[in-house]
Formats: sequence, C-alpha cells, structure tokens
Amino acid sequence: MSIHLEGVNCFYGGQQALYDITLNCAQGETLVLLGPSGAGKSSLLRVLNLLEIPRSGLLSIAQQQFNFTQRPSAAAIRTLRQDVGMVFQQYNLWPHLTVEQNLIQAPCKVLGLSRSEAQARAKKYLERLRLADYAQRYPLHLSGGQQQRVAIARALMMEPQVLLFDEPTAALDPEITGQVVKIINELSATNITQVIVTHEVEVAKKTASHIVYMENGRIVEQGNADRFTHPQTREFANYLSH
Ligand SMILES: Nc1ncnc2c1ncn2[C@@H]1O[C@H](COP(=O)(O)OP(=O)(O)O)[C@@H](O)[C@H]1O
Ligand SMILES: [Mg+2]
Repeated sequence: MSIHLEGVNCFYGGQQALYDITLNCAQGETLVLLGPSGAGKSSLLRVLNLLEIPRSGLLSIAQQQFNFTQRPSAAAIRTLRQDVGMVFQQYNLWPHLTVEQNLIQAPCKVLGLSRSEAQARAKKYLERLRLADYAQRYPLHLSGGQQQRVAIARALMMEPQVLLFDEPTAALDPEITGQVVKIINELSATNITQVIVTHEVEVAKKTASHIVYMENGRIVEQGNADRFTHPQTREFANYLSH
C-alpha cells in the first residue's frame, strides 16, 4: 500500500477540519479528492506531507509510518517530504531564478547532486513536460500553464514516490487544463502515486483511478473510477449531476 490513513482527525485551533479519515491507495494509483469548497480536501492533502499535523490517527506513506499521538520529529518530516512531493496551487516558483535554477536547487541542496547531475536531470524532466526551450527563462516570462508545468517538473526533480497536486487546473483555461490532465495521465504510466485535489468533476473523471468524495471534513464515498457512473451515495450522485 502506498498510502494508508486510519482514523485521522485534524483541527485548526478548536475547529475540526477532518473527521475520522480512513483510506487506502495502492502504488501507482491516481487518487482524486473531490468535493465542494470547504470539504477538507486541501487539509487532507496537506496531511499527506505533514504540512498539517493531525491530532490523532495513523498515516503510512512511501514506507514511512506516523502515529499522531506523538508529534513527528523535524527530521522525520524532512525525510518524508523527499518522497512525497507537492505541486502548490500558486506554483511557488522563485521569481529571481530561471526555470533551470528553480529545478536544480533542491536536488543539489537536499539530495547532494552535483550541479551537472542536477542539470541533466532537469533536462530530462523539462523535455518530458515539453518545456525544453524554457530552461533559461524566468517564471514571470511564462504563461500560467507553463508555470504550472515548471512546478510539476520541479516536484519531479526529487523523484518522489508520491506527488500531491492542490487544484492543479483551478487557474487555467480549458485548453491548458487539457494539457495538465494529459501530463497527469502520462505520469500515471510511470507508476508514481498521484493525489489530486479538485472540485471539478470533469478533471476528476479524466484522471482518477480511485475517487474519494468529501463533504464537511468527512469522506462520504470512496471507490474505483466506476463510481462516476455508479455512485453509491445520494450526496456523490448529487454532486456529479451539477
Ligand atoms: N489554515 C487554516 N486555519 C483555519 N481554518 C482553516 C485553515 N485551512 C482551512 N481551514 C478550514 O478548514 C475547512 C476545510 O478547508 P479546506 O481543507 O481548505 O477545504 P477544501 O480544500 O475542500 O476547500 C474549512 O472550514 C476551512 O475554513
Ligand atoms: Mg482547497
């Protein structure tokens, strides 16, 4: 199992954001977290690389285990984030660094790659994301869709076992959304495990091998992609029909 959560409860101060979350996701799956705004999708995604630390429950991801009755150590969190990458909604690229510099920074610092090793790796991922011509540009001189692909390439540079995406198509027009969907589908053929947060049913249908539907901090329904045609709860059926 690539990802296993059991009985996870997460709070912001006194307000509970996630209730008793239990889910399994096998290696190589593309797990989509779908649901309306405020459902807890981003919170759940952020738990997967410990940007949020739950109050209770178990997490096992990329061969690492956490029992949240104990707070994970800073070292354990760093180790986890090498294997669980995140593509942020706002991309979070460094504006003063070129695309290539954005890509090679973490692998050089964290993984200890030499500059030339990291550059060779950057070339590979920029080609895979059809960005080979943009290595020496600055992020602000790229379109939103290109910046999104740079953010994905940068996450892939760490060669993570699990890649997390928060609303990867939220700010993009339909054509660029199609390109991002295609990239996610190409990545799924490489056996990486992907977890994608979206509120868009069409994006979910085109990418998910496994679906988790959430409302109000709870999982309402989860299953394989055939749930899109055979939803088993009234809530999920209702969401799909809008
Ligand atoms: N940093 C935060 N501090 C306090 N409350 C938060 C924070 N982030 C999210 N929440 C609250 O937690 C709930 C779930 O939010 P979120 O996980 O962002 O949902 P979604 O991604 O499905 O829209 C919401 O009620 C939201 O207001
Ligand atoms: Mg969100």
